[in-house]
Amino acid sequence: ELAPILTIDGPSGAGKGAVSARCARALGWNVLDSGAVYRSVAAAALERSIAADDVAGLVSLCGDLDLVFEPGPDGILVRLDGRAVDERLRSEEVSVMSSRVAVQPEVRAALLALQRSHRRPPGLVADGRDMGTIVFPDAPIKVFLDASVRERANRRYKQLKDKGENVIFSRLFRDLEERDRRDRERAVAPTVPADDAVVVDSTRLNLDQVVERVLAIVRDRL
Ligand code: C5P
Repeated sequence: ELAPILTIDGPSGAGKGAVSARCARALGWNVLDSGAVYRSVAAAALERSIAADDVAGLVSLCGDLDLVFEPGPDGILVRLDGRAVDERLRSEEVSVMSSRVAVQPEVRAALLALQRSHRRPPGLVADGRDMGTIVFPDAPIKVFLDASVRERANRRYKQLKDKGENVIFSRLFRDLEERDRRDRERAVAPTVPADDAVVVDSTRLNLDQVVERVLAIVRDRL
C-alpha cells in the first residue's frame, strides 16, 4: 500500500514551507520541498555557467541531485550532497533562476522520479506548485495555499530583513509578481489548484491558524 500524501501547492511566499514543516511534524510524516529541487538545479546551473535555456545541460544536472529533507521548527531543512544549503537556495539570484529552469518540460520530466521517491511510510507532505496536479495526482489530501501578492511580498521582505539581507521592497514585489506570472501562465505544470484541492487563503491568517485548518482537512480526509 502506498503511503498517504498531503500536497500543499500555491504561489511563492504563501507560507507553504512553514505550513508543510509544521504539518509534517504534527503528523510524523516525511516532507518534500519541491521548490528546493528546482532551486538546487538552478544553483548548480549558476555555479557551472549553464544557461536557463540549455536544456541538455540542465537535464544532466537533474540526474545527480542528492537531496534530503527534514521538517524543522520553522520550515523545511534541505541538505544537498550532505550540506545545509538553505541560505544559498533562498537567494534572489537562485529564486529567479529556479523559475526560469522550471519552465522547461524536459527539466520537469527529469525530476519526476526523484520527487516521487520521497513517498515513503508513514506518509508525505509535498510542497510545491504541481504536487496535487502532476507529481502526485492520486494524493488523498490536497491543499492550495494562497495569499495576496502584497501580503506575500511583505512576509518575504520581513524574512530577508531578519536574516540581515539588504532588500528593496519594490524590487522584491516586482520579482514576486513576475515569478507568479511565469509560474501561473507557463504551459507545463502551471500553478493552479487541482480540481479536488481545498483552497486556503492565508492573507488574514497567522501560521498557527493555517496549520490548524490544514490539519483539520487531513483529519477529515484520512
Ligand atoms: O516554492 P519555491 O519558491 O521554493 O520554488 C522556486 C521555483 O521553483 C518556483 O518559482 C517555481 O518556478 C519552481 N517550482 C516548480 N514546481 C514546483 C515547485 C517549484 O516549478 N513543484
